[in-house]
Amino acid sequence: MANDSYGVITMDGPAGVGKSTLARRLAAELGIAYLDTGAMYRTLGLRLGAAAADMSEAALRARCREYHFSLEAPEKGADPQLCCNGVPVGAEIRTEKAGRLASLVARLPVLREELQRAQREMGEGSSLVAEGRDMGTKVFPSARHKFFLDARPEVRARRRYLELEARGALNGETLEQIQRGIEARDAQDRGRAVDPLRPADDAVIVDTSDLDLEGVLRVILDSVAVKQAGTSPACSGPVHAGVRMVLSPAACFMLQNAEKREELFARARETGLAAAHAASSSSCGVALSCTLQGNGVFVAEAEAEEGPLARLRALAAAQAAAARLAEELSEESVTIEASLPGRI
Ligand code: DC
Repeated sequence: MANDSYGVITMDGPAGVGKSTLARRLAAELGIAYLDTGAMYRTLGLRLGAAAADMSEAALRARCREYHFSLEAPEKGADPQLCCNGVPVGAEIRTEKAGRLASLVARLPVLREELQRAQREMGEGSSLVAEGRDMGTKVFPSARHKFFLDARPEVRARRRYLELEARGALNGETLEQIQRGIEARDAQDRGRAVDPLRPADDAVIVDTSDLDLEGVLRVILDSVAVKQAGTSPACSGPVHAGVRMVLSPAACFMLQNAEKREELFARARETGLAAAHAASSSSCGVALSCTLQGNGVFVAEAEAEEGPLARLRALAAAQAAAARLAEELSEESVTIEASLPGRI
């Protein structure tokens, strides 16, 4: 398949959800370019600073136009890199300060307009994975492939903490401080008046909280293959996905009552099957079981028949069932692990 046949693949979601790693891997798997639009906001955040918020519209537009963004391969055959005025954007934009300034300037309509125009130009006539906050809703509304990644704030904070720690870039920040920062940035990105962060109506939503990178990548590649071919990707049989959730002693005690347990599990299954149907309204079946093991572990396991988006359907069913039970039990301290594909 020609590399230019994918068009633009949009990948949106909040900070710390793992979008960049996934978008980069997806682009590499498909042999197409990767456009990190957050890097564009970070670059202008650093170059213009907080003062951008006090500029007149005309002055801000003129300042934005001093910077020209492009995707350029450093040598023939190499992956294209995001460049600003012909120079690849560097590591200086990867700091927390650059992230804060980016979030600040990203609220300015004129600046957004200028960057969105540049993004559309880069996406014109070529295939690329465009990662950001408003790719599916605003910049490329007619993209054929749209994804929205999400994860619980505490999971995103832990990932960010481990990533900073590995790079030796924690600078004394605690996990709690990082989580507060992520929640503040979420509120700013979701609550801003212009182009707030939200999934496009036709986006595939993937909750990455309990999945590893390979699991999410497989779900996304399946979805792309289905739409490209108009058929199901090759699949040798039914697909399984499961969620394991460790319950508190209080929750286990409540579930010892068989009647109560059946009632709650029935509601969890109902929610899980509805989520599987919403994930892809194909007529292929999904079977979903909910069990409580003796060690206080709840298991939701889904089996989806071979068919369009089978992995996504199985995953959506298991995750939604576990989430519904956690909500009903008011479980704040559940620990979730998942595997995809495969039985738990
Ligand atoms: O993904 P990131 O952390 O590099 O993004 C930095 C900031 O830029 C983030 O606060 C949201 C903003 N942003 C945006 O508003 N629209 C985009 N398309 C990409 C990023």
